[in-house]
Amino acid sequence: MAIGVFDSGVGGLTVHRKLVDRFPEADFVYLADQAHAPYGGLGGEEIVDLTQAGCRRLFEAGADVVVLACNTASAIALRRLQQVWLPEHRHETGRNLNVLGIIVPTIEAATGRPWEHQVSPGEGKIEKLEILGVFCTAATAMSQVYEIEIQKRREDLAAFSEPCPGLAGLIELGAPEEELKVVVADHVDALRRRIGRHPDKAILGCTHYEIVAPLFAAALPPETSLIHQPSATADALARYFERHRDYDLGGSGRRQFLTTGTPGQQSDLVSRFWGAPVTFEAA
Ligand code: DGL
Repeated sequence: MAIGVFDSGVGGLTVHRKLVDRFPEADFVYLADQAHAPYGGLGGEEIVDLTQAGCRRLFEAGADVVVLACNTASAIALRRLQQVWLPEHRHETGRNLNVLGIIVPTIEAATGRPWEHQVSPGEGKIEKLEILGVFCTAATAMSQVYEIEIQKRREDLAAFSEPCPGLAGLIELGAPEEELKVVVADHVDALRRRIGRHPDKAILGCTHYEIVAPLFAAALPPETSLIHQPSATADALARYFERHRDYDLGGSGRRQFLTTGTPGQQSDLVSRFWGAPVTFEAA
């Protein structure tokens, strides 16, 4: 079997990197839906359809487990796919297929609690309220997934999503660092103005933003700790495979990078982050 990793573009490579490091023996297929990126400004139905098509393509390429390395797809499409399409598709193919997201592991890392842990309203004693900033796409911010799911688990942690429209698109295009620095600093400042101070912790809630994590770290005060989705996702996937021993991860170390967009080498920004040039083939 292979592990499939899906994103609208190059952002999911941040998660992919950690997964490859964690499971070096496994086969991997990465799919970037660059023909339709960025997802952050699209409507819900469109995001569901595109994510489903991406998963289908990854299953065809030999993946049995697909990780949606995209907050927007995880927030908007994952539940629908798991409840409706995936059971049918498993039945049609007779394969033990699954699709996992990255929001659950991120919330577990942010709250320090397992996903199953929920407090009843008013039950948790609030000694000190911590503020969590979530920098994300407009679609993820509008879903309120971080606010809702964190509130259920930690009443002493208040999440505020800050939409950063356009930022994923700029990163996708390999915009110069000077330009990205200004945009990142503007969003960090917009959140500070909205909540009256900088957050205690922050999530880069769009996988593209991990590529420019040093710019976020520089714009935020040093006391604000960053929660990193790629490592949280790799830890969660390791726990998943511990529980599901029927998946055989031993492979030939296949690494395939597919795109629905224009095949070829990705930007210098991506190469710098990845540590080597990244070349996509046509999906
Ligand atoms: N990297 C994706 C995310 O984590 C999608 C960004 C976009 O396509 O707008 O949300």
